[in-house]
Amino acid sequence: TRQWRGVIEEYRDLLEIPEGTPAVTLREGGTPLVHSEWLSGLTGAEVFVKVEGSNPTGSFKDRGMTAAMSVAKFQGAQACVCASTGNTSASMAAYAAKAGMKPLVLVPEGKIAAGKMAQAIVHGAQVIMVRGNFDDCLMMARGLSEKYPVALVNSVNPVRLEGQKTAAFEIADFLGDAPDHHVLPVGNAGNISAYWLGYRQYRDLGQTTRLPVMHGFQAAGAAPLVIGEPVPNPETKATAIRIGNPASWDLAIAARDQSRGSIASVTDEQILAAQQDLAQRDGVFVEPGSAASVAGLLQEVAAGVEYRGSTVVVTVTGHGLKDTATALEGFSAGGRSVVDTVVDADVDAAAEAAG
Ligand code: F0G
Repeated sequence: TRQWRGVIEEYRDLLEIPEGTPAVTLREGGTPLVHSEWLSGLTGAEVFVKVEGSNPTGSFKDRGMTAAMSVAKFQGAQACVCASTGNTSASMAAYAAKAGMKPLVLVPEGKIAAGKMAQAIVHGAQVIMVRGNFDDCLMMARGLSEKYPVALVNSVNPVRLEGQKTAAFEIADFLGDAPDHHVLPVGNAGNISAYWLGYRQYRDLGQTTRLPVMHGFQAAGAAPLVIGEPVPNPETKATAIRIGNPASWDLAIAARDQSRGSIASVTDEQILAAQQDLAQRDGVFVEPGSAASVAGLLQEVAAGVEYRGSTVVVTVTGHGLKDTATALEGFSAGGRSVVDTVVDADVDAAAEAAG
């Protein structure tokens, strides 16, 4: 039996990275595509959830990071930098440790989930908190990489998208063709661009017969692609996608239009409710930013969009353990109180407490 090798070795021939680049890998990718009875029942479609929280650092970012860090290392970089809402920085810090590089992280002060901050710190990153938002951090990361010998590994680095597009390959490999619809959250817009790249490449190679309709969802308080202009002060409890001026704006709009798809928004209330439902009905615990995709699919079903008879893939991008505070807030908001009963070490006491 062989172990999954990570996305570079599994798909090297299909990736535009310099020939002979040694892989810096934590064996990312190969994530579960889980059939959802709940969402299939609601839509009349076959709905699958692509669980990207199962990657080594708990988000889809590892796919792009193995590619970007491998190339940076091969080209001689000794340090790397990124702006982040938390997952990119967690991933970069881990791969930097693996590569023996020095990681520098720029994050918006007070707006990073605790789990993600802990990852960056424990993997040894130098973390700089910025009085500003993600968009300010990205401006600074770009500036630092222009002035100093430090590799920029945000998704403005095209190698990131090369790694991230492998998720589309995995889905098509598993289903035997591309799905009819693909639903995912959108923040800085790298991921929707990468999926579209991957789906088109597979279709052009004859690996698939069709292209999916892409359905992107932003948080209502951070929805520049929906309103058509940058949002100067983005706000949402889904801090992963709290972004006002996405770097891959044009690529995301191209993916939307070429696929005859849509980019719409969902409220924080919808996001937190979808997070609870997915956890309690399907057993998949995702972070709020990821639940925007599920919330979006539910919103479309409620609006009467017809999915009957089709195949739908919903990407959930990051693990629920990244941000337990917001998840428990969402649990309470659902009208339920967090049960934590204390009893003596006695069977009958436990039975009585359990009801
Ligand atoms: N979901 C999660 C969990 C994310 O962390 C991100 C982005 C997205 C969705 C949106 O993906 O930016 O490719 O459109 N997180 C970045 C970060 C910005 O810094 O971790 P996107």
